[in-house]
Amino acid sequence: MLRRRGIGAKLVVAAALVLGVAGLSLERLAARDLESALLAEQSPRAAVDAALLRSRRTLLVGMGSVVLVAVAAGAAATFFITRPIRRLTRSALAMSEGDLSARAPLRGPGELRELARALNHLTSELSRSIAEARTERYLLASILDGMSEGVLVLDGEGHILLANRALRAMAPLGDDALGRSVIEALRNARLTEAIALAGRRDEPVDVEVELGRTLPRRLLVRVSRRKSPAGGGPGAAVDDAVEGPGLIAVFHDVTDLRRLETIRTDFVANVSHELRTPVTAISTAAETLQLGALQDPHEAAEFVDVIDRHAKRLRQLVDDLLDLSKIEAKTFRLALSDLEVAPAIEHVTHLLAESARRRRVTLTVDAGALPPARCDRRALEQVLMNLLDNAIKYAGEGAHVTVKARSLEEQVTIAVADDGPGIPPHHLGRIFERFYRVDAGRSRDLGGTGLGLAIVKHLVELMNGSIEVESAIGRGTRFTVRLARAA
Ligand SMILES: Nc1ncnc2c1ncn2[C@@H]1O[C@H](COP(=O)(O)OP(=O)(O)O)[C@@H](O)[C@H]1O
Ligand SMILES: [Mg+2]
Repeated sequence: MLRRRGIGAKLVVAAALVLGVAGLSLERLAARDLESALLAEQSPRAAVDAALLRSRRTLLVGMGSVVLVAVAAGAAATFFITRPIRRLTRSALAMSEGDLSARAPLRGPGELRELARALNHLTSELSRSIAEARTERYLLASILDGMSEGVLVLDGEGHILLANRALRAMAPLGDDALGRSVIEALRNARLTEAIALAGRRDEPVDVEVELGRTLPRRLLVRVSRRKSPAGGGPGAAVDDAVEGPGLIAVFHDVTDLRRLETIRTDFVANVSHELRTPVTAISTAAETLQLGALQDPHEAAEFVDVIDRHAKRLRQLVDDLLDLSKIEAKTFRLALSDLEVAPAIEHVTHLLAESARRRRVTLTVDAGALPPARCDRRALEQVLMNLLDNAIKYAGEGAHVTVKARSLEEQVTIAVADDGPGIPPHHLGRIFERFYRVDAGRSRDLGGTGLGLAIVKHLVELMNGSIEVESAIGRGTRFTVRLARAA
């Protein structure tokens, strides 16, 4: 029974017993003294006084001893009870300061042991919850940073709480963006408006904005209200900024998509435009013939010639378009092998000799003994055909065109140069684009489609080579094709 009551109770009971026993003995001693004094017959008064004095002294000494014992018992009780409490307080303080590995010692009286056990349980539960929260947070952060979409989280006041890695790559967000408002951090009125609107509406708001100054990106943004966890829950009070009402904006980078859309619409417009001219010319000539020109042999020949020229142009256009679409399809593969370039150059110059002669263009080939290059014969011939055809056509009457092949370090280079009027510098960067022409009228008159150099560039790159152009107004133009030398 006493064991279960703990040391404090034991000490109190012991002190009470000591006091009781001491009190009884003192009382008994004093009584005995008085009794013996009274028993002494005809005792003089002095004897009684002496006996009283003795018993008083005995009482005093007894009382003093009892007080001393009580104080000692109290001190012992205090020591035995407060020591474990102090230990427990130390552990609790360590835990409250974040040391979740601290454990309260399971020592001292029963109640304190119970308390220490409860405290330890609480701490291990707390460290488990913190570890879980940390894992979840890490997982969330990895998901957010692994996304290709930008994510922006705002609090109820519209201040930035989170911006993931993708968003930082798309938008010019400074390092100090957290805690700032969107207008301050991104400086975009349309986005700020969408955010304000989304705050007032239940449905998400979509907006397309352009962000960034040096390399502007077109971003499709969906802003929606953030949902608070249902019923608040235990997490509701943890962080009002995160859990409270706010907005989330998801950014999709549509720059490339928009660019491709523009290219596609431009392409369709260009093709239609290119087709319309020959088709109109052909049908007009045919109509004119039907209306009577057929009867006049001279006129008839003229209109048949028109039909023939435009039909050829149409055919060239369709051929180029088919080539281009085949080349641009990802499945198109060339059969690369180690080839001598000289025979290909000879073959193409031979095919174009007549056209050069008609324009009084001097065609020179300079291709000595060369190591073979890594290329596809038909592709190389098509490349040379386009470059030489351009040089002969655009360099003008009486020009000089040379094809020079050289072996340079790990490469075989083929340069097609003319001494024609040259290409103005601001056109040079766009010359390889589809349908891009310096002088569209002249190109059309000469039967060009504006697709030749686009095809050339694709083919050279499919042979793992490169092409560059240099030109000087009034001095001429040089296209240089670089192919890898055969190993
Ligand atoms: N050697 C050259 N000298 C001057 N201009 C050239 C030369 N080669 C190409 N060009 C210019 O580049 C444009 C694009 O050439 P290309 O793609 O072959 O189309 P096309 O010859 O059908 O017009 C031509 O229209 C022409 O203006
Ligand atoms: Mg051409």
